[in-house]
Amino acid sequence: MKGVIFQSLEGLVLTHRDMACWNQLLAKNAPKDRAYVSVNNYPDQELNALVSDICIELQLSRAKVLNQFGRYLFNYFMKHYSVVVGHYSHFEALILNIDSVIHKEVSKLYQNTNLPTMDCMMVCPGHIVMHYQSPRQLCFLAEGLIYGAGEYFLMDVTIEHEQCLLREDERCTLNIYYQPAK
Ligand code: HEM
Repeated sequence: MKGVIFQSLEGLVLTHRDMACWNQLLAKNAPKDRAYVSVNNYPDQELNALVSDICIELQLSRAKVLNQFGRYLFNYFMKHYSVVVGHYSHFEALILNIDSVIHKEVSKLYQNTNLPTMDCMMVCPGHIVMHYQSPRQLCFLAEGLIYGAGEYFLMDVTIEHEQCLLREDERCTLNIYYQPAK
């Protein structure tokens, strides 16, 4: 996983706790003197271990922590990748373009990316079906990112996680329902 994801995770921890807490998490779950560089790759197990300890620290389930992290990460992406996403002004257009445009641009910016596959189809205005596939099984992070996009573009979003890799389905199916926030 890219360093940018770990940098953002640090930001999330700092919103709930402090630097001492992040340093403790690092001391336990990363090699000595770890400093994350955004373009470099770090082991997925390191992210998983950090997330597990954040769950203990915040007394929240893994799904909840990944969801919160996704919401935080979306804003982080919008700030740090304005070149790639700055021209999106609607939730729907952004979601429909994650896989075919946004993540494609990301893999041009960085070498050796590990991105998920997310096929999206608009069923009707207000309803998109997304199929998520990834060996990292971070579907709850994907959910959080989508909720984050909803908040960013002032949309009310509901997701029904119909099929799930974590329940041994072949892929995740997310039914995304959205409408302008009331
Ligand atoms: C709602 C919108 C988005 C969703 C649902 C989404 C989903 C994801 C997920 C779930 C991952 C974790 C890797 C995996 O599951 O295999 C990921 C990684 C990543 N995404 Fe996205 N993403 C979104 C928007 C964006 C945006 C706007 C950017 C930046 C322009 C971005 C850049 C990245 C990067 C840099 C990674 C890490 C890749 C790596 O470690 O090699 N994503 N995305």
